[in-house]
Amino acid sequence: MLDLFADEAPWQEPLAEGAVILRRFACADAQALIAQISALAAISPFRQMVTPGGYTMSVAMTNCGEVGWTTDTHGYLYSPIDPLTSQPWPAMPDLFRALSDTASAAAGYNGFSPDACLINRYAPGAKLSLHQDKDELNLQQPIVSVSLGVPAVFQFGGLKRNDPLKRVMLEHGDVVVWGGASRLFYHGILSLKPADHPATGEYRFNLTFRCTS
Ligand code: SIN
Ligand code: FE2
Repeated sequence: MLDLFADEAPWQEPLAEGAVILRRFACADAQALIAQISALAAISPFRQMVTPGGYTMSVAMTNCGEVGWTTDTHGYLYSPIDPLTSQPWPAMPDLFRALSDTASAAAGYNGFSPDACLINRYAPGAKLSLHQDKDELNLQQPIVSVSLGVPAVFQFGGLKRNDPLKRVMLEHGDVVVWGGASRLFYHGILSLKPADHPATGEYRFNLTFRCTS
């Protein structure tokens, strides 16, 4: 398919205090990122995690990095071991780290050094309910979130669950960085609409880089 936006330079859209969307920032790396996701998933497969409350999440997840986000019967935790394989999570590819470095710097956060990257895979109908990213011990560091494939509606609110929500469409190559005043803002992804993307088929992938310690 002809991609009319392939040569377009990235641009920035402010989202909230401390939060910005870097539109198309990851487009140039997208194909390589998608190939890396496949390679990582061959080591630590995508799986639908079960919340402590017994609910099976619709988003399939895996991780790379020194630690990975996972669930157990007690809660949510970062673990150095993948509970599915009983092995360490695969290392974070250099390309992932380079992208998180340039994106965080472009958003005004210097010295971001993630030790975890959660990889989300959304099939049609998958969603991520409103939540805060608060399992990280280090809240001084931002979150860097990379969208690939099928577009999805991202909701971004405030510190309280019932604060007003902004809704923005995140498309292939978009990167959202949030930190500072918005580091603990509620956010989520609405149910993915069926679509076909030339790079990912029916799926949307999302990488979120975190510094947990
Ligand atoms: C997340 O909140 O961990 C992921 C958000 C997204 O998929 O864009
Ligand atoms: Fe999140």
